[in-house]
Amino acid sequence: RVLILDFGSQYTQLIARRVREIGVYCEIFPWDMPEDEIRAFAPKGIVLSGGPESTTALDGPKAPGVVFELGVPLLGICYGLQTMAMQLGGRVSTSDEKEFGYAQVRLAGACALTDGIEDHVGTDGVAMLDVWMSHGDKVTELPDGFSAVGQTSSAPITIMADEDRQWYGLQFHPEVTHTPQGARLLERFVADICGCEKLWNAANIIDDSVARVREQVGDDTVLLGLSGGVDSSVVAALLHKAIGEKLTCIFVDTGLLRLGEGDQVMATFAQHMGVNVIRVNAGERFLSRLAGEDDPEAKRKIIGNLFIEIFEEQAKAAGGAKWLAQGTIYPDVIESAGARTGKAHVIKSHHNVGGLPERMDMALVEPLRELFKDEVRKLGVELGLPAEMVYRHPFPGPGLGVRILGEVKPEYVEPLQRADHIFIEELRRDGHYDTTSQAFAVFLPVKSVGVVGDARRYEWVVALRAVETIDFMTARWAHLPYEFLEKVSLRIINEIDGISRVVYDISGKPPATIEWE
Ligand code: XMP
Repeated sequence: RVLILDFGSQYTQLIARRVREIGVYCEIFPWDMPEDEIRAFAPKGIVLSGGPESTTALDGPKAPGVVFELGVPLLGICYGLQTMAMQLGGRVSTSDEKEFGYAQVRLAGACALTDGIEDHVGTDGVAMLDVWMSHGDKVTELPDGFSAVGQTSSAPITIMADEDRQWYGLQFHPEVTHTPQGARLLERFVADICGCEKLWNAANIIDDSVARVREQVGDDTVLLGLSGGVDSSVVAALLHKAIGEKLTCIFVDTGLLRLGEGDQVMATFAQHMGVNVIRVNAGERFLSRLAGEDDPEAKRKIIGNLFIEIFEEQAKAAGGAKWLAQGTIYPDVIESAGARTGKAHVIKSHHNVGGLPERMDMALVEPLRELFKDEVRKLGVELGLPAEMVYRHPFPGPGLGVRILGEVKPEYVEPLQRADHIFIEELRRDGHYDTTSQAFAVFLPVKSVGVVGDARRYEWVVALRAVETIDFMTARWAHLPYEFLEKVSLRIINEIDGISRVVYDISGKPPATIEWE
């Protein structure tokens, strides 16, 4: 396995995903990971990531010395290359000529990392690579033992290599798709140079997790809050494979789910897969608790607390359990590490079942803790979950509770579910579903005048929201075709009583958020 030391680049998670796509397991740790932990990890190779700092700053982050003592291959990327150069006795300068975006690297020298990898051949017969750059500083003097094997017009040392020690540095980012040969370079490093076997695939991950869960919980029973979302669904399928009858899922139908979602979850898990699922129809309890409340954060708290309350009741009724399973995934683990260092800001208090294990005195089973979302999806497919469920857009825990603006009144729920359903159905039909990251309808409790036939109508408004995003931290509104929006709008107004107007949300994030509340 490979260790990635993170110097704070926005691309670090991407490095890990690329390495795992190649089939090699890797983990990310902060750059100041203690030396004994690095030794204990026993990496077959180490990647030093990029980062926002300048190596020319005196107290900038540095790679721990042990990295250079283990005798394993190293790959420094951007800041990683620069700190390697500095720490090994080379020189880095801040240059006036910053390089951002596309660049061409001339492969003037040879090394095991780049041999035979090229995009095209320059006029002088030298191989060239198209790459993506993002840096201000550059290496101006090589450390001992290194040679420059690649250069751009503004940076003479874009790739450096010490073939004897198998230490390499790249000034550009091989992990981004804008560097077409990037995946091949990373594969060359982890598979050929580090000698890692490509064993990291869905079937092996499942076998491994199943064995680990069995070892962890033995003959005990495990409870799982099944929401119907991708993560908890994959946990359910995985635990069912591992411990069968010993798994009990509690599915709280808040009445604020998408149209038909409750029945779908039951059909997939209980009927089709034979998983123990207790369905709790709690729509009325949620609605009565929400009555009179119009503040978004207060609504989230009410929903979160009631969810926990119901879960506890059901857990007790089911005879309790020592273990609680959760669909925590790797980005959550990395982000909460960030939150501990005080870097994360709370924009919205996201609802999940956090807080439950302490309250209920239960130990956690988190079989997806080391996985990225795309890996979780591959596991889901391998475990036999319907692709429609596995590749579904995310849905917030508080559900329609935050998509009905202001007070959640019972009569708003069904029109919103139906409008949302029409939108999603049409997105799928016209092939837009998979190109948008998240799409949904929002109920606006405002009345607007319309005319149908000769009759005046004075009814509610629905907003459609569709975004494209990689990480949900920033998003662009989806530029759906006008004809498509027109078709959806017509269907919603014609088919749903009580809605007389449809609008389309053209706000990006930032400054707007994806949800309206
Ligand atoms: P925002 O609205 O913050 O949404 O731009 C970013 C992503 O998070 C989802 N979201 C939530 N998910 N509980 C959740 O589990 C919540 O309270 C919540 N609020 C927003 C949102 O759907 C989007 O995918």
